[in-house]
Amino acid sequence: MYRTNTCGELRMAHVGQKVTLAGWVQKVRKMGGMTFVDLRDRYGITQLVFDSEREPQLFEQANHLGREYVIQVEGTVAERTSKNANIPTGDVEIIASSLKVLNRSDVPPFTIEDATDGGDDLRMKYRYLDLRRGCVRRNLELRHRMAFEIRRYLDSKGFLEVETPVLIKSTPEGARDFVVPSRMNPGQFYALPQSPQTFKQLLMVSGFDRYFQIVKCFRDEDLRADRQPEFTQIDCEMSFVDQEDVLQMFEGLVKHIFKYVKDIDFTEPFPRMTWADAMRLYGSDKPDTRFGMTFVELKDLTEGSGFSVMDSAPYVGAIVAPGCADYTRKQLDQLTDFVKRPQVGAKGMMWVKYEADGSIKSSVGKFFTDDQLRTWLERGEAKPGDLMLILAGDTMATRKQLCELRLEMGSRLGLRDPQNFSCLWVIDFPLFEWDEETQRYYAMHHPFTSPNPDDIDLLDSDTGAVRATAYDMVVNGNELGGGSIRIHDAELQNKMFRLLGLSEEDAQYKFGFLMNAFRFGAPPHGGLAFGFDRFVSILAGLDSIRDVIAFPKNNSGRDMMIDAPSAIDPEQLTELAISLDLPE
Ligand code: AMO
Repeated sequence: MYRTNTCGELRMAHVGQKVTLAGWVQKVRKMGGMTFVDLRDRYGITQLVFDSEREPQLFEQANHLGREYVIQVEGTVAERTSKNANIPTGDVEIIASSLKVLNRSDVPPFTIEDATDGGDDLRMKYRYLDLRRGCVRRNLELRHRMAFEIRRYLDSKGFLEVETPVLIKSTPEGARDFVVPSRMNPGQFYALPQSPQTFKQLLMVSGFDRYFQIVKCFRDEDLRADRQPEFTQIDCEMSFVDQEDVLQMFEGLVKHIFKYVKDIDFTEPFPRMTWADAMRLYGSDKPDTRFGMTFVELKDLTEGSGFSVMDSAPYVGAIVAPGCADYTRKQLDQLTDFVKRPQVGAKGMMWVKYEADGSIKSSVGKFFTDDQLRTWLERGEAKPGDLMLILAGDTMATRKQLCELRLEMGSRLGLRDPQNFSCLWVIDFPLFEWDEETQRYYAMHHPFTSPNPDDIDLLDSDTGAVRATAYDMVVNGNELGGGSIRIHDAELQNKMFRLLGLSEEDAQYKFGFLMNAFRFGAPPHGGLAFGFDRFVSILAGLDSIRDVIAFPKNNSGRDMMIDAPSAIDPEQLTELAISLDLPE
């Protein structure tokens, strides 16, 4: 037996017991005639004591231990004279009676501690060492606990977990595919699934009724903190349901996770907001509803002043920052610089201060009377002491900029506590999105999403106004998941493809298998998928999903540890009938 106990297990009740522990040397402290070793494993840290008087030979051996050596120690549990209240095993220590080095270690390139000295690249290169750090390991423990609870909930509701293939034909989720050449079919390629979308719909045609899968998806897109090229979805689909059934079922799942993983009870139904309201009030389809500061539209109140910035803009919008009327020139300049950053893209920012004494100051005071400015403040329900920040320009672009400004003010005012969770459904998304560049419509969700039955008549006459039966779950300004009720009628699906500019041949080539399946009795069905990595990172209160993935890729899509992607042997290329034409 390598060990009788783990390094996180021993307490006062074990005092006097003879034990054997195994683990990694976290730290060696030499204090005169005594050497203390912190021994670490997944479960915790236990202090070992080597006494020069009692065991001179062992003491000598212990003094030669290095960081991250793997050792096995026998000894007796004793009460510590100076206790360490910071760790659960801090009341006891092991008086060592034998020591065996199971493996040596090179000096690790960074300290294996929560506050490490290793930079990002170094930690990713040695991710297996990074994973020894408690803070990283705890994220993966949370991930495990959540996956377990997800399966428990969905199993209790009759969902079957079914695996779907990874080598498939392109699925349209709006990103580029990763492709895999087929040796047996030269010149032909598989695509890795951007999601199992078409397969889960086929499983509904097969009568599986309730499907789920915790599944890897692959998308070749620009990476950000909340995006990885391979990520995990909790993918779900149900038959004989309408939107309400789906929302109820998966609101239940989210609540179950919060309850059993975070001990947070959401007793009220999650609020629902239409996409149009989300854009109007927050300038985003994933509003952070942890705080207010919703948009105030001022266009009608600013008309005709002769101030060209506002007169020429189709949209004038504002937020009211509570208690910020005392902002200094410098603070206002900082905010102006913020909105002018290329990532935000505004040309400038205007402001009105509602001073605590009721007087008014404004950057646009030259163009408007105090009475006029007062009407703006009234519409924004501003109180004395508040600051109104205003942007003007094209409607959609300005809303986006105002959204960034609102989030920035929320952060500055400490209103975005990561441990305060605000969940909602965003519903009634538009079915189509117009693309100026290519002058055509794209499916806002995906081409299998059903139009809102009330809007079917508009499909030809007012295509852009058609609402989808699509919904997103939003938590703290993150899109946690999304889905839709699907089209289950081959004729409507064909019409949808036509509106998306897909010829009949194209549609047949890409989705013939699905269209064919729909000819054999497809039930009404719908579902959604949550981003599992995002779900874990939100619950962990982290900004980046990389921290909840055991072996993530960096922002260039590279695995620094195994050094992938990498070149392959010329013979492999020949076998695949591929020749490279690389730019110089
Ligand atoms: P969608 O494309 O909205 O829907 O994806 C569902 C959820 O997956 C997460 N997600 C990602 N997470 C990390 N990295 C990425 N690159 C990434 N891309 C998406 C998000 C998102 O909300 N088949 C449909 C679902 C359906 O209609 O049932 C789909 O994939 O949290």
